[in-house]
Amino acid sequence: MKAVPYFGTAFLFVFHSLIITFAHSQIGIMSPLARKVVGSWLLIGCVMVFFQVIVGGVTRLTESGLSITQWKPLKGIVPPLNETEWNAEFELYKQKVQYKTINEGMELSEFKWIFFWEYFHRFWARFMGFVFIIPFAFFVLKGWIDKNFFRKIGVLLLWGGLIGVYGWIMVKIGLTGMFVPPVHLSIHLILALSLFAYLIYMTLSVYKPNYSIVNCQSSIVNLAYAILILLFLQIFLGGIVSGMKAGLAYPTWPDMNGEIIPSALFTEKATTVGFVNYNAQDFWGRTFIQFAHRFTAYTLVILVAVFFFKSRDITSDKYFKLGLNLFPVIVLLQAVIGILTVLNCLGKIPVFYGVLHQAGAMLLIAVTVFVIFHLQSKVEKTNS
Ligand code: HEM
Repeated sequence: MKAVPYFGTAFLFVFHSLIITFAHSQIGIMSPLARKVVGSWLLIGCVMVFFQVIVGGVTRLTESGLSITQWKPLKGIVPPLNETEWNAEFELYKQKVQYKTINEGMELSEFKWIFFWEYFHRFWARFMGFVFIIPFAFFVLKGWIDKNFFRKIGVLLLWGGLIGVYGWIMVKIGLTGMFVPPVHLSIHLILALSLFAYLIYMTLSVYKPNYSIVNCQSSIVNLAYAILILLFLQIFLGGIVSGMKAGLAYPTWPDMNGEIIPSALFTEKATTVGFVNYNAQDFWGRTFIQFAHRFTAYTLVILVAVFFFKSRDITSDKYFKLGLNLFPVIVLLQAVIGILTVLNCLGKIPVFYGVLHQAGAMLLIAVTVFVIFHLQSKVEKTNS
């Protein structure tokens, strides 16, 4: 149960931040021009974060994440430029456990490929830093940003920086073994996706200032929040499924190797050692995490269906209707992609489906936040 403190910390941090943002979401008065420019800037931020998560997924699925063995926030922007520098970088990687255990004899050209993904992931993170900070400074100088909004962007920037620092912590821990510990991968993923949710909400708040008033009295609003929380839990579980390569243990659906409830849950020794240390021997952990991920997925599909039927007649707001109609479609699509991923886990994790599944999770977050945002406007209108 060593993983429990990690779970607790990640969840407290993410939900505290999300709820604070959502609950105090009003943005001060801005001119129409300022709204348009700041809104577009935030929207570009959403697209860039989406892209970064996809690149991160490819980095993990191609087992490239430990290829850069040092942390040089400024100098690291320049990749190796000649054969001598490449060889020096490769020599550093050769000292590491991952090379010695699974990549012994790798060619320099193969190393360059895995290096590329990790480099690109780090490069994009730095690039996003510029895209966020420089226009932000400009908006402050123009006087477009009030104190409240300044604080919100401050949280965003600190949060982004924290994800970068956490990324390095997980690589540093990963370099002491064969792979990055699953729980760290998962925390990194959930921090990134909660930043994505926060950004979407902020973007909507800027574009549509009259919508952003929270009223959490309605049971429908509570159900929407419950779905959001469960979705984050599901993403957290999914990150561990990926980190443990648990898909390989049960590449069948709807059963799990012929059983609906896998007997290994009762016959194997219960341990979560594989959550914290990548450990291919932890069969109970692999069984448990895949079973929990499937079970949570089915619960999510049911809750979204309930939400759909409970709220489809509460408003004629066309944006709410759009989000509501997309909600069941996206959750079902995501479940189908998950099933395709698991069915293709035949000795090797399928990169294509793995990345698609990650993208699907982000779409689902986007739709959930969109629905919550417009739902709040509805509750506000009903009460007024
Ligand atoms: C409907 C809600 C679902 C959500 C939101 C969701 C989300 C996720 C996320 C975020 C990951 C981690 C991706 C990564 O780190 O690359 C993941 C991994 C995974 N999920 Fe799901 N999932 C859902 C349903 C399912 C279903 C129904 C199945 C199969 C029955 C499934 C099977 C898998 C597998 C096998 C992986 C590991 C893939 C890998 O190793 O990269 N998921 N899921």
